[in-house]
Amino acid sequence: MTHWYEHAIIYQIYPKSFQDSNDDGIGDLNGIRQRLPYLQQLGINTIWLNPIFVSPQVDNGYDVADYFKIDPRMGTMKDMKALISACHQVGIHVLLDFVLNHTSDQNEWFKKAKSDPHSQYRDYYIFAGANNQRPNNWGSFFGGSVWEPDPAGTGQFYFHLFDKHMPDLNWRNPKVRQEMLKIAEFWLAQGIDGLRLDAFIHIAKADLRQSFPVKEIANENDQTIVAEPFFANLPQVQKWLRPFCEEIKKDYPEALLLGEAASANVNLAADYTAKDHHLLDSVVTFRYFKDDQRHIDPNLPAAVQPKGLDWDAFKKTQVIWQQTLGQVSQPTLYWSNHDMPRLASRIAKTETQARSLAMLMYLQRGIPIIYYGEELGLKNLLFTAKEEFNDQEAERFITKAADWGLTKAEALKMVSQAHKMPARGPMPWTAKKPNYGFSKVSPWLEGQSQNNANVQAELDDPDSMFNFYRQLLSLKKTALFQSGSFYLLATANDSYVYQRDLANDSAIVAVSLSSQKLRIKLPSEYRKVMLTAGQHYLNKDELILMPYSGVVLSK
Ligand code: NOJ
Repeated sequence: MTHWYEHAIIYQIYPKSFQDSNDDGIGDLNGIRQRLPYLQQLGINTIWLNPIFVSPQVDNGYDVADYFKIDPRMGTMKDMKALISACHQVGIHVLLDFVLNHTSDQNEWFKKAKSDPHSQYRDYYIFAGANNQRPNNWGSFFGGSVWEPDPAGTGQFYFHLFDKHMPDLNWRNPKVRQEMLKIAEFWLAQGIDGLRLDAFIHIAKADLRQSFPVKEIANENDQTIVAEPFFANLPQVQKWLRPFCEEIKKDYPEALLLGEAASANVNLAADYTAKDHHLLDSVVTFRYFKDDQRHIDPNLPAAVQPKGLDWDAFKKTQVIWQQTLGQVSQPTLYWSNHDMPRLASRIAKTETQARSLAMLMYLQRGIPIIYYGEELGLKNLLFTAKEEFNDQEAERFITKAADWGLTKAEALKMVSQAHKMPARGPMPWTAKKPNYGFSKVSPWLEGQSQNNANVQAELDDPDSMFNFYRQLLSLKKTALFQSGSFYLLATANDSYVYQRDLANDSAIVAVSLSSQKLRIKLPSEYRKVMLTAGQHYLNKDELILMPYSGVVLSK
């Protein structure tokens, strides 16, 4: 049986930054609804919204205070229903981000848990330790310890893998598991088509009495270490998630369950998505992208420096994922998201390369996830104030730019290119400064545009990146690229060439990763050009690709 989501083409919308409809500088649900014709024109068939629930926005919505209500800055329940129905009318599916590993500390459960140690909600969270002694040396992903003193002063601590305002839920507690299922089903009952399960791989933790055994502690300031093996992909994740997923599939068999599995390797991804395991349909891994360490300046902190991609590792990883998941599930295919710099700032050296990399990625077997603005070739913003990064390390670095031998402007430029926050800027709908058609007032996140990409200009230009993406997605929707087999052709490391076959239909996707002109031997029957990025020439048994170019050829 084929499910709709096997052929999903997902467009990721950061709701705060897509379209402001009520002039408060924050994007909202009605804004998204207004822009559906644009998304139809692009050719996507699914949208995924980053979190839209009531939240103090410590982590831009990943800190949920009320799972049953829309954050008023983004709209109302009525707006949400109108959006779902408008999407469905034009054949677009809707996915919501579902944060199930933690809540906000402003969530009623946590408020009750901390004010009353005897409340049933105490065990909704992870409280441990005594006499003001932390239970272990584990470090949080956002810096510092995972343990924060109980605000009620009991001498205990509560556990948070992310910000200290985002306490982790205790999935060991069956009541928590029931509550989370109830919330998921509440939203599915409103008509949404699936959920992205945020950070689900972290719901199980090892024995909390166990410190991570290390000779030298990584973070000298607070004596902590990010002890991932103790809180990522533990077997109980699958045990607790299975009934959750089974219930959902029983009630909503067509719901797409897409898991964010940042550190999952390919075998775990197969475990999480094998049909007879009754867990997820697909996962997003962060393992696709290994940084190229060669150009990192050892005298500066690595986190604030732009890093290219290790292409050898990338090629290997892609092929392994394509092969391993070939008979199991649809891999996700993506270049960027809200947690990393944009493709055009991070990896693509030229506009041609941004196109050929999109071709390379999305014509493979799997589900494309396009990050809003990527289809315009949008770059990271340039921030002019260090506070915009909302990141202590970045702020420290910029404040002390001179100590690193840089001017403040140089430091801002460097971090703007390397950081995730400047990738979350407002969508530029027009060329009109200062707010580019996003809002009538200053947007919630401001920076300088780095390449003047905008929707209005690109819609009108047949050679624009937008129109390239349209062609690419219409090709992606053909049976060959949806269902054909995939295999990599043996070429040198400076190109990525693969074949897709379906019955008598066959195509080769050939992409140069090189700044030099490339010659690639190809079977002579593949001479019909289906899509181009940059320039190429075809001889009898040879394809010549100009720097960073790509082409799709069929028989
Ligand atoms: C993963 C999300 O993508 C990221 O933006 C967020 O900070 C963490 N999960 C915590 O929810």
